[in-house]
Formats: sequence, C-alpha cells, structure tokens
Amino acid sequence: MDLQLRSISKHFGGIRALNRVSLQISGSQLVGLIGPNGSGKTTLVNTISGIYKPDDGNIVLNGQEIGRLKANEVARRGIGRTFQVTRAFRRMTVMENMLVPAMAIPSGKGHRETHERARQILNFLTIDHLRNDYARSLSGGQQKLLELGQLLMADPELLLLDEPFAGVHPKLMETIFEYITTVHAQGKSFIIISHDMASIFTLSQRLVVLHYGDIIADGPPDVVKEDPAVIEAYLGEDEDD
Ligand SMILES: Nc1ncnc2c1ncn2[C@@H]1O[C@H](COP(=O)(O)OP(=O)(O)O)[C@@H](O)[C@H]1O
Ligand SMILES: [Mg+2]
Repeated sequence: MDLQLRSISKHFGGIRALNRVSLQISGSQLVGLIGPNGSGKTTLVNTISGIYKPDDGNIVLNGQEIGRLKANEVARRGIGRTFQVTRAFRRMTVMENMLVPAMAIPSGKGHRETHERARQILNFLTIDHLRNDYARSLSGGQQKLLELGQLLMADPELLLLDEPFAGVHPKLMETIFEYITTVHAQGKSFIIISHDMASIFTLSQRLVVLHYGDIIADGPPDVVKEDPAVIEAYLGEDEDD
C-alpha cells in the first residue's frame, strides 16, 4: 500500500481546515494523527475517504489518483474508515450489520463463507454472543466494536479510525488495542485519530500532528512529544476533548 497526499487543501467558507497537507504512507504503518480540537483531523480522514473532495492537490493510492472518487469507490480500492460517532444501522441486528459491507463490496465469497468470517470477527471482538441483538441495544463501546468489525468485513488495506477510544470502557479498550495490533501484524496500515495520548503514544510508530490545518510535526512518538511546536500547539488545549 502506498498513499500519497500531495499538497491537499480544504476550505469551509473562510476556514482553512487543511492547508496544503502532504503526507506519504508506504507499506504497513501504524500512524497516529493528533492535534488540538478543530485542527483538521476529521477533515483529513473525510478527504482521504472520499466524503469530501479536496479543493486542491492530489491523493494518489498505489500510483492512481483517487482524490475525485466517491466514498464508495474509495472503499472499493481498499480504504475503509470508522466514524467519530458510530453509524451502525440501529434497526438491524449485529449480524445483519456485519453482512452489509460484504454486499457493498462483493468479495466473490459465498454466503456461508461470509457468515463464517463475520462470526470469527465478532468472536475476536468479544461480541459474538450479541449477534442476534439489535445494534441499538448495544453500549456505545460495543457499537464501536461492531463498527470495527464491519470495517474488517470489507477487508481494506488502509484503515482510518476516528477517535476509536472515545467514551469506551477500559475493558473494551483492551479489545480495540488487540484488534489494531493484530490487524496491523497482518500487514494492514492504520491512521488513527485519538485524543487519548497514552494510547496513541503506545500504539503508533509514527505520529503526525495537525494544527490549524498544517502538519507541524511528523515522526517517532518520543521525538514528536518533545517538539516545541507541538508542546506550544497543545498549550491551553482542554484536557478531555
Ligand atoms: N462540514 C463542515 N462545514 C464547515 N466547517 C467545517 C466542516 N467540517 C469541519 N469544519 C471546520 O474545519 C475545522 C477542522 O475541523 P475538524 O476536521 O472536524 O477538526 P478535528 O477533527 O481536528 O477536531 C474546524 O474549524 C471545523 O469547524
Ligand atoms: Mg474530529
């Protein structure tokens, strides 16, 4: 997997959410994306995943321009994402939710095989016993696990996770940690947005820091942590948002 963001910009009226952002992710990487509230993290993920079109610049995946593709086309090319607020179908069961991505992105596998894979993933995520329950009856943390499960059903090469730990019980957080490390070990890449500094410092091999739409640091976590520009950006930032 090779993803290149080449000087992408995104404006909303007078707000420059992304300001000529360039970034390359090659091979299997686990990238943490951090930055103060409103710095453009979600906008970056929305732009990579085709929900927003960049005003300027190019997004190149494995040598092909994807910056003008629709979200479902980007997903077909192997980029999957979760949302800051989960979007599971509340009136469908957990299992039905798991089968939706397989319908959207045909894998050529039979129904039995797809079903079997869904069970394996639900089991791994510790929610297999809930497979016949409606998604709306799940806790917030369990809904996040379901969304991670749906993502895996689409079998993407690059997984974009927007705040996967927010509001999640510590016990379920361990499961999410294990999910990320296991899937990464299978050769997949991640961009993970998180406000949970302890988790993201532990997990990432590389940290990218956004501030008012600019990348102000990009490197190993222990180097980025000491960067004066990063410390400056976080001064005055509310601890828990
Ligand atoms: N759909 C939108 N319409 C207008 N402004 C937006 C929209 N999405 C994001 N913004 C603005 O862009 C900036 C970056 O937002 P966002 O990417 O959500 O930040 P973060 O995820 O880092 O908290 C903020 O000023 C936000 O208000
Ligand atoms: Mg956000």
